[in-house]
Amino acid sequence: MREVDRVSALRDTVQRWRCESQSIGFVATMGYLHAGHLSLVERARSENDRVVMSIFVNPTQFGPAEDLERYPRDLERDRRLAEQSGVDILFAPTVETMYPGGAESQQVWVDPGPLAAHMCGASRPGHFRGVVTVVSKLFHMVQPDRAYFGQKDGQQALIITRMARDLSFPVDVRIAPTVREPDGLALSSRNVFLSPDERAEAVVLSRSLQLTREAMSVGERDAHHLETMMRAFITETAPSARIDYVTVADLDSLQPIDGDIVGDALVALAVFFGSTRLIDNLMVRRLEDGLRFS
Ligand code: PAJ
Repeated sequence: MREVDRVSALRDTVQRWRCESQSIGFVATMGYLHAGHLSLVERARSENDRVVMSIFVNPTQFGPAEDLERYPRDLERDRRLAEQSGVDILFAPTVETMYPGGAESQQVWVDPGPLAAHMCGASRPGHFRGVVTVVSKLFHMVQPDRAYFGQKDGQQALIITRMARDLSFPVDVRIAPTVREPDGLALSSRNVFLSPDERAEAVVLSRSLQLTREAMSVGERDAHHLETMMRAFITETAPSARIDYVTVADLDSLQPIDGDIVGDALVALAVFFGSTRLIDNLMVRRLEDGLRFS
């Protein structure tokens, strides 16, 4: 594995691979790697000749009161894990490389539009503008054939898919399944902040989605009923949980569904445990032979 922090070095290598007709898969991360990130590398390896991973804690996607400063970092360990999982190039740029003159001097942004109006976009104003801007910069720097994002951050993955389409990026964006702990908790770099009690209660996110899945399997379609059921379950079973949002949205427009779910849906939630905010989601697709949950 080669580690580079300069765009020119990254471009030179990627260009050489291109001349040799090698395909390039890309995994963007903020580091503090876990099995969720590594599952994206594995998928990228299986579908491409070469894999580039970026590690960059992107300041522009954090709000002023958010956890940028305390976001967990361990580049030494990340390097080892990236190498073991078969990353060819680890791109770990500085803030100055990604935002010449500093993040404050960025003038032109990518606008995620109404896709960012609800759910995490409503709770974290400006978050998705920062995400899509940095991802579009990374796409320009890496120039991958395929890029891999986790379903764990469902709204993010769908917005990036749409950005690639709407802005004609020559990148095939692929969404990979959420990797979970044995009890169902989605892996997240932020799980390290949970106290033992909070960690035990955090299982309510995946359990409430499981309840929705069961209810929909026996015919429940009313979005409001499903949301109310999930909220009640969380409040009753996790005393330290503070619900940020529980939303059933249209999978394409990401607008909340009012009434019955008739097409594909994203059931998404965000819950605080202390100051740690966890998210999870369930995608529901309507196929000819019934519903498919992922
Ligand atoms: P980060 O939170 O480090 O996540 C990097 C990638 O790993 C994202 O695509 C995320 O969805 C995926 N991922 C995280 N946990 C996962 C899990 N349990 N199972 C499967 N995939 C998982 O998301 C970001 O960084 C940033 O917003 C980024 C896209 C890098 C832009 O700065």
